[in-house]
Amino acid sequence: MGSKVRIEFRRVWKRFPARGRGGGEVSAVEDVSLAVRDGEVVSIIGPSGCGKSTLLNMGAGLYLPSAGEVYVDGEPVAGPNPHVAFMLQKDLLLPWRSIRENVELGLEIRRVPAADRRARAVALIERCHLTGFESHYPHQLSGGMRQRAALARTLAVDPTVLLMDEPFSALDAQTKMVLQQDLAQTVAEEGKTALFITHDLVESIALSDRILVMSARPGRIVTEIPVSIPGREAPIRRRLDTRVGPLAARLMEELHIGEAMPAEAF
Ligand SMILES: Nc1ncnc2c1ncn2[C@@H]1O[C@H](COP(=O)(O)OP(=O)(O)O)[C@@H](O)[C@H]1O
Ligand SMILES: [Mg+2]
Repeated sequence: MGSKVRIEFRRVWKRFPARGRGGGEVSAVEDVSLAVRDGEVVSIIGPSGCGKSTLLNMGAGLYLPSAGEVYVDGEPVAGPNPHVAFMLQKDLLLPWRSIRENVELGLEIRRVPAADRRARAVALIERCHLTGFESHYPHQLSGGMRQRAALARTLAVDPTVLLMDEPFSALDAQTKMVLQQDLAQTVAEEGKTALFITHDLVESIALSDRILVMSARPGRIVTEIPVSIPGREAPIRRRLDTRVGPLAARLMEELHIGEAMPAEAF
């Protein structure tokens, strides 16, 4: 892991105009500072609505902070950045393009020659276990396969920073584990840096070097927990480690899960 900071949030705040009558503002993110170093995978967990997606949108340059700054490779983020790839729960594949054409899209926009584009797409399609489906269209694939194609497309442009907003949360448990493995292997082999949002506590443990826990809205980072379990490149094996249970319990405690819950919540 390098010592170079790839993405950094410095005292970032984000407020939105409140919806409905009365005006005012909603404070979504408050005073968040974090830095992800080259080759690191950092997860963010926190209750629904605490500002996780808002944070990632600011990393991708889709929202600008109300205060504070975001930097990618030392440069302030002022808009979408070609070195940052964003992957969401929804695959956003173009329905009229084949899987290979979808994977090639970002390379086409960058005017990469056709032969190089195709070679890179085919290699990534193989890595993401979609060989044989290059000419299929998105509607012909299952949800898990579409998300694999979205992963291949995200990796195709060779981003330095991957921002992932619950990318596997709509998948069934087994498909999810296979995709986690594909992602972890690629990230390890290609030395990618990633900031990964999830509400799946074991997923955060399986995939990352560190976990940042956010409070309920307005979202602040309340604690940082290192994952000192070996094997980040092999999450299927890592999730079976005996240290995963106690670490998940610690995360539940940090998130106050199960505490003072009224009976009707169950
Ligand atoms: N574009 C927006 N306009 C107004 N409010 C927003 C917008 N995006 C997010 N919010 C508000 O900011 C808060 C945090 O949302 P979000 O970042 O989506 O949370 P999370 O991803 O943690 O569930 C929520 O109260 C949400 O309603
Ligand atoms: Mg979200």
